[in-house]
Formats: sequence, structure tokens, C-alpha cells
Amino acid sequence: MNADESALGSLAASRKIIVAIDGPAGAGKSTVARHLAQHFGLLNLETGAMYRAFALKALRSDVPLDDSKGLETLAADTTIRLETGEEENRVLLDGEDVTGLLRNQIVTDAASRVSVFPAIRAWMVRLQQELGAVGGVVMEGRDIGTVVFPHADAKIFLDAAPEVRGMRRFDQLGPKVAVQPEDVIRDLRARDQRDRNRADSPLKPAEDAVLLDSTNMTLDEVVKAAEDLVAAKLAQQDAPDPH
Ligand code: DC
Repeated sequence: MNADESALGSLAASRKIIVAIDGPAGAGKSTVARHLAQHFGLLNLETGAMYRAFALKALRSDVPLDDSKGLETLAADTTIRLETGEEENRVLLDGEDVTGLLRNQIVTDAASRVSVFPAIRAWMVRLQQELGAVGGVVMEGRDIGTVVFPHADAKIFLDAAPEVRGMRRFDQLGPKVAVQPEDVIRDLRARDQRDRNRADSPLKPAEDAVLLDSTNMTLDEVVKAAEDLVAAKLAQQDAPDPH
């Protein structure tokens, strides 16, 4: 980080800015959030990791993933903490570090299932609002700009064609995982379908979100566009009030 960037970073943190990044799976939210956090000196909070941690707890229990009452009872007996790390958040489930257990297909699918229930969402939203209340954060998820922080200072909705998102996911998985690109794209479409069509806070852009479609952009270009947007918000806040 050069001197200008670090000055910008402390400026952002001192202003307690809240940046919301929403969008479907594989759109590049985590990469963009990580870069923005580093560039502007913000805390990076991945809300998807919290749903994943609760999904892991449900999978370890005997509560079926469609039993809303059972899941609600389980949630009442669960603590989830997010700690910021270098590359990704460290996730503590009832005090256990489960960070390395959350990215497989079973937990991914379960997270999308448990997150449809209003009681689970209300609990998560409360936790996320507490985490972000200090400000100076970039928070990524599905409902940050619409529900968690409707008054966020900057809102970005990151999207891309399902085939492109699926291929990015496939490339991330690497050759060790025995799946075909078609399988990854099919799973991603099924998750999109659930995330976009659930009754409670479905995935959709906030009215005042800036839409970034990364279908034909490199991730570097997307990161640059997001940085410019946040820098513009900061400059706006900096401008003297004409009245
Ligand atoms: O961002 P992710 O892939 O880690 O999210 C996992 C699941 O959690 C996703 O399918 C939907 C759910 N989720 C949500 O409903 N709301 C959020 N703010 C974040 C994630």
C-alpha cells in the first residue's frame, strides 16, 4: 500500500463508511470485497460464511434442512462469530474454527436451503447489523443493500451470466475435484433459483445499487470499477456542503 492509499484507507475508516456488495454465486463478490477492504482499510465481512456455518451445524445435527421450527430451535442454541483474516474470514461455530469445512458442495447446497427461513434470516441479519454497526466495513452477501444495511453509503450489485460464473467456479475447484463444468453450472443455476425466488429477502439489486455485470470484464476491471465507485462516494462526502 502506498502513502496515498493508506491515507485514503484511514479516511474511509474514520468516516465509518459501509459498502454493501450483493449478487449471485460466482459473480466475484469475495474478490472485489477483499480488494476494497485492503485498498480502503475496511473490515471485510462475508455473510455467506455465516449461513454456511449454520448449515454445517444443521448437517451435523439430526434436524432436517426443511424443518423450519427445528432449525429455529437449533439456531437459538448456536453462536457464530466472524473474524477478519488475511485472505478470508475465520468462522467460529460455537467456538470451533470451521473455516476449512464450509466450501464443499454439501455445505454450499445446505446453506442455500437453510437461508430461506425467515427466522434464520432475522437472526443472521441481527448478527450482521451488530458486526457492521461500527462502520468502516465492506459486507458481502445477497441482501446487504436491501435489508441488512439499506442506508449503506455505497451499494454494488455484481452479476454475470450463469455460464461465466459456473466456469469461474469450475476453474477455482481445480483438476483434483472430479466434476464436469456442466455440473457446476447446473448446481449454480439451482442455487440462483432458490436465492432469487425465496419469499423472504430474495436476491435482487437495491434500487440505489450500482449494477456491475462482469460477464465480459476481467476481475481486475471489475475491481477497478468498484474502487472508483467507492472513491467517488468518499469524494462526495468530502465535498463542502454548498448550503
Ligand atoms: O455467498 P455464499 O455463496 O457463501 O452464500 C451461501 C448461501 O448463503 C447462498 O446460497 C445464500 C445464502 N446467503 C443469503 O441468503 N444471504 C446472504 N446475505 C449471504 C448468503
